[in-house]
Amino acid sequence: MEEGESRRPEKQRRRCCVILSVAVALIVIIIVAVVLGLNGRQEESEIKSIFFSRCEKNDCKKIWGAFQQAYVNKDPCTVPVEAYDPLLAAAPFKSECGRMMFWSKTKDVVRDFAEKTCFSTLEDTLLGSVLDELTWCGKQGSEDTFTTGCPTRRDCENNPVSSFWRSASAAFADVACGNVTAMLNGSIPTPFSPASIFGSIEVKRFNATRTKSLNVVMVIQKNAVTNCTNVSLKDLQGEMDTKGIIYNCKDVTESQIQECSSQPVESCGTCW
Ligand SMILES: *[C@@H]1O[C@H](CO)[C@@H](O)[C@H](O)[C@H]1NC(C)=O
Ligand SMILES: *[C@@H]1O[C@H](CO)[C@@H](O)[C@H](O)[C@H]1NC(C)=O
Ligand SMILES: *[C@@H]1O[C@H](CO)[C@@H](O)[C@H](O)[C@H]1NC(C)=O
Ligand SMILES: *[C@@H]1O[C@H](CO)[C@@H](O)[C@H](O)[C@H]1NC(C)=O
Ligand SMILES: *[C@@H]1O[C@H](CO)[C@@H](O)[C@H](O)[C@H]1NC(C)=O
Repeated sequence: MEEGESRRPEKQRRRCCVILSVAVALIVIIIVAVVLGLNGRQEESEIKSIFFSRCEKNDCKKIWGAFQQAYVNKDPCTVPVEAYDPLLAAAPFKSECGRMMFWSKTKDVVRDFAEKTCFSTLEDTLLGSVLDELTWCGKQGSEDTFTTGCPTRRDCENNPVSSFWRSASAAFADVACGNVTAMLNGSIPTPFSPASIFGSIEVKRFNATRTKSLNVVMVIQKNAVTNCTNVSLKDLQGEMDTKGIIYNCKDVTESQIQECSSQPVESCGTCW
């Protein structure tokens, strides 16, 4: 009797101890899981929902799959431009002769302008609009998509985001046809930079069999420091001459551009 009575509390204490250890272990496991894995899962669900809400009405599942295969389970510094070939094949760009608009350092004006007029930029295409302003990367040994801690161009050139924009810009310029427009920024000393995406990729891809002319619109803001006479544009003109593409440049004030957006015209480019 006495023995049994004294054993019971000990048993209870042991059971209590076991329950407590299991609880502590579970909490530790949950914390580790959240920090390591679920974080990626949550970031993935965030970017995925943005992707699908912007993609609507297209073959979004197939496009998402082609997008992911470019960078998932890869070192985020070794994603080459070619990794996006299947994505570009899944959502190819259409030629829109006379309506294609390129830009360099003028995103603020271009975005608003293209939205209200017949011009379309890379950011107005399906892929461009779905991925605009997003950040993504993968990690070796993980099937997840991450949106934080991803390398930028300063860390490495072949990061998932930079490689996507280089590959998309090249493909967009490949289909440029008719009269092509480019908006450059007159508020910076060198409006045409050979190192920019426009200068290093798009301009190189223009092909005279498709592209008739390149019409540069130099956006002249109040703080403008240069215009169409800038020497940097001689390089651009030279490249077009070599290809056999007609080159034009016109200084257009920002207010004139805004006026053009508020009076949309049927045929592109008649406003300046
Ligand atoms: C042109 O560049 C300046 C200086 O970087 C910037 O403040 C301005 O917003 C740019 N203009 C456009 C139209 O994006
Ligand atoms: C294309 O540009 C050329 C010269 O740059 C011009 O003569 C022609 O009318 C333009 N074509 C269209 C369809 O705007
Ligand atoms: C332009 O396109 C034509 C036909 O597609 C091709 O034969 C030619 O090599 C291209 N030119 C350049 C400079 O890429
Ligand atoms: C263009 O800029 C140069 C100096 O950079 C200036 O001398 C010239 O008057 C400007 N031309 C126009 C049409 O604004
Ligand atoms: C014009 O272009 C040249 C050469 O590309 C550059 O060095 C210069 O600073 C530019 N800007 C002005 C305002 O002259």
